[in-house]
Amino acid sequence: EAAKNLVLKEPADAPAAVESKICALEPLREKRVKVYGWVHRLRNQKGIIFIVLRDGTGYLQAVLTGDVYEKANYEFLTAGPESAIELRGTLKPVPEGKSAPGGHELVVDYYTIVHAAPIGEEAFTNQLNAEADPSVLLDQRHLVIRGETASAVLKVRARALRAVRDTYEALHLTEVTPPCMVQTQVEGGSTLFKLDYYGQPAYLTQSSQLYLEASLPALGDVFCIQESFRAEKSLTRRHLSEYTHVEAELVFLDFETYLQHLEEFICQTVERLLADPVAAPLIKQLNPGFKMPERPFMRLKYADAIKYLNEHNILDGEGKQHKFGDDIAEAAERKMTDQINRPIFLTYFPTELKAFYMKRVPGHPEITESVDVLMPNVGEIVGGSMRIDDMDELLAGYKREGIDPSPYYWFTDQRKYGSAPHGGYGLGLERFLAWLLNRYTVRECCLFPRFTERCKP
Ligand code: 4AD
Repeated sequence: EAAKNLVLKEPADAPAAVESKICALEPLREKRVKVYGWVHRLRNQKGIIFIVLRDGTGYLQAVLTGDVYEKANYEFLTAGPESAIELRGTLKPVPEGKSAPGGHELVVDYYTIVHAAPIGEEAFTNQLNAEADPSVLLDQRHLVIRGETASAVLKVRARALRAVRDTYEALHLTEVTPPCMVQTQVEGGSTLFKLDYYGQPAYLTQSSQLYLEASLPALGDVFCIQESFRAEKSLTRRHLSEYTHVEAELVFLDFETYLQHLEEFICQTVERLLADPVAAPLIKQLNPGFKMPERPFMRLKYADAIKYLNEHNILDGEGKQHKFGDDIAEAAERKMTDQINRPIFLTYFPTELKAFYMKRVPGHPEITESVDVLMPNVGEIVGGSMRIDDMDELLAGYKREGIDPSPYYWFTDQRKYGSAPHGGYGLGLERFLAWLLNRYTVRECCLFPRFTERCKP
């Protein structure tokens, strides 16, 4: 009863509290601060309540004693985990030998509960029974992302987007933002999401490549970070229906220079992340064994990969030996990549396996100047190629793939007005993160995953 009626006031002699995000607290040690956040954890023992407060920028340990304890001991009986609160108090470095996030803790002299989350059956912690059907966790993704692991992945994702942009800036590429609603396909008709566009047929974009190609004469080398959409029929750990596609296109270069750029792009981006004070500790937390890939990346021709698979008895989906012209299935590709256990540039795919726009190797029309980047644990994270820059060859490419060239008139026009050798690639951001952070599936590497038949939450 006494606690119920206790009115908590700020100490009369207390200096005004400085409001701060948790990540910016260090310079405020020994000062009185005010922090808002959510109750990540609460432990009540022998007259002290320990709260771990989370505000999205970090975690802060707070201790509540004395009057504050008396009041909180009563109030937190009905305010469960994830309650939104405000804490005020003095920030103290933790004593030698003890540890707390950031190396300090908040000695609380005043708090308010902004919103009390439920206790009991409805309590937050009862909503995430990991032993339940995985689809339960997927339905509860909006709650799962508050967890330490999921939020760490999302934070690294944010830093990765930044690192990608910084790398492209350093390499002199200009960012463009191509449309998502399009009337052309890039990677085959079978994975197109169709939509009704004012009575005309249209699709959600599979790749911004064609728009990047069209941007080259206007802006020079370009890149974009755009959602791509694929109506994939099969459920795998690395396929999403919507994913974040990092794509680049470069002009006036040959295949070798192109591959060197690609290696530089990947390595520079990873180096930036490993030097990033926010990302680096999270990468270490999620994937302690991660090592910077060795350069140069291994080069493996498709034809030699087929030999490798057969020599190592890695069979195709039907239990048969591989032969030239086979689309190497995901399982076989992963097995090979895991055995080799380093980044691989898989090059020179057969023409018949690849899209209409890929440049053929001069003198060898059966193979293309193409590359997939394969990473241990994930497999393909990048696909790209040099592009056909000759008009007649492109028209033949449409024909071979049974594509009506008329909606592509603007793309074809590039071969009319100053055509030049060029190439590009697309990196699946979620696959890159699955590799970097050692996640089992790309579904863990985006905010609210979209995959076969799932469009919620
Ligand atoms: O190999 P893809 O289909 O290549 C293209 O779309 C090219 N037009 C890109 C370009 O040259 N500008 O896709 C490129 C990458 C893949 O390596 C993979 O990382 C990712 O996009 N990707 C997917 N990621 C998640 N879910 C899916 N369903 C994906 N499909 C492709």
